[in-house]
Amino acid sequence: MKKVGVAILGLGVVGGGTYKILTEHREFYNKNHGVDISVEAVLELNRERAMALGIDESKIASNIAEICSNSEIDVVVESIGGIEPAKSFVLAVLNSGKSVVTSNKELYCKYSHELEKVAKKNDCGLYFEASCVGGVPVIRALLDNLQGNKITSLTGIINGTTNYILSKMSDCGASYTDVLKEAQKLGYAEADPTSDVEGYDAVYKLSILSSLSFHTKVPYTEIYREGITSVDPTDIQYGKQLGYALKLLAVGKNGENGIEVRVHPTFIKSNHPLANVNDSYNAVYITGDSVEDVMLYGRGAGALPTGSAIVGDIIYCATHQGSNYSTFKNTEKADPATKFIKNFESEYYLRLSVKDKTGVLSKITSHFSKHGISISQVIQEKAENGQVPLIILTHHTLENDVKKTVDELNASGVARVAAIIRVIS
Ligand code: HSE
Repeated sequence: MKKVGVAILGLGVVGGGTYKILTEHREFYNKNHGVDISVEAVLELNRERAMALGIDESKIASNIAEICSNSEIDVVVESIGGIEPAKSFVLAVLNSGKSVVTSNKELYCKYSHELEKVAKKNDCGLYFEASCVGGVPVIRALLDNLQGNKITSLTGIINGTTNYILSKMSDCGASYTDVLKEAQKLGYAEADPTSDVEGYDAVYKLSILSSLSFHTKVPYTEIYREGITSVDPTDIQYGKQLGYALKLLAVGKNGENGIEVRVHPTFIKSNHPLANVNDSYNAVYITGDSVEDVMLYGRGAGALPTGSAIVGDIIYCATHQGSNYSTFKNTEKADPATKFIKNFESEYYLRLSVKDKTGVLSKITSHFSKHGISISQVIQEKAENGQVPLIILTHHTLENDVKKTVDELNASGVARVAAIIRVIS
């Protein structure tokens, strides 16, 4: 039987889950794949953590050089996260002729061009299914199964922490700060939640997913980003009354005029499948010219779901000849011929606080018409202290026209724009 030795770098949630799956399913993989996959070494500074998983002390390496020079090891799992030391370790492992399986979205997003070059030079595999959307098998779907398509759009809820927070804010009307505190207590949100709540995590994932989808490099720096820290529960409740769910959405579109990539809170009509993806679940909704619409749904994080993606890559690497590379020219920067659309089109929800006076509404709507924005709905809520909340929904319009209108309204003295949320009907 073919023997495949694995090393795991970092035994946190993901590395620990991977170890558990590999050891518990070893016989199962023997039987079904004809490969004997054994964990030969781990690299983990916290030796107690390794030993608590039942790992023999003799298998705990002291440094990356020990992993690189161990001839029993064929595949190395990188589940450390962040850029350093993960990047140096991955490069050392590839240069030692071993394949790498990584769950590190930031590393793959920012440096895949460099890692891929070194992997190719050493004829090693570089696998990254676990880098995006945890246990949801979207990378292989894009790399292999959906190759018969020109993919025109990819829309996803690709961050579990923010989906959990927005779902709870929607269920109980609580503020962002209160729900975040509760999510941190329950272990759903990190002690430092910045990467998740400010949308960076989703941006890294969208950069990888849209590069694969559109067969061209989509650098993360081209992606418009807005997190959820300013979301007001009032808008979630107004949205609900209008039949919308609020989600942190990652949007990638590839059209005649170029590529549009953005991450921001979005109202989605409740009959859209993505509107019903709640709590820490993730989903990616892909549209291809042959397949039409495909939605992949599941756990985007967690020890066993992400471990499932890593082990899938290890088995793929163990049972396939050759290496697995991206389907685009993986350069550091975008191809100069690629156009990125910054002034994108969307429907909008705006909440204004206006003075309750005759003629105010016509003054406000004149700013919209001046910029060619067509209003689809206006809802006036009950006045409080002489101020009226006014909800305005627009038809499809350009982002820059909305920004100009908002600036003018804020400067006019008749209205203050309290919220701007993009809408998918
Ligand atoms: N922190 C991520 C999330 C999971 O909340 O979805 C790892 O990418």
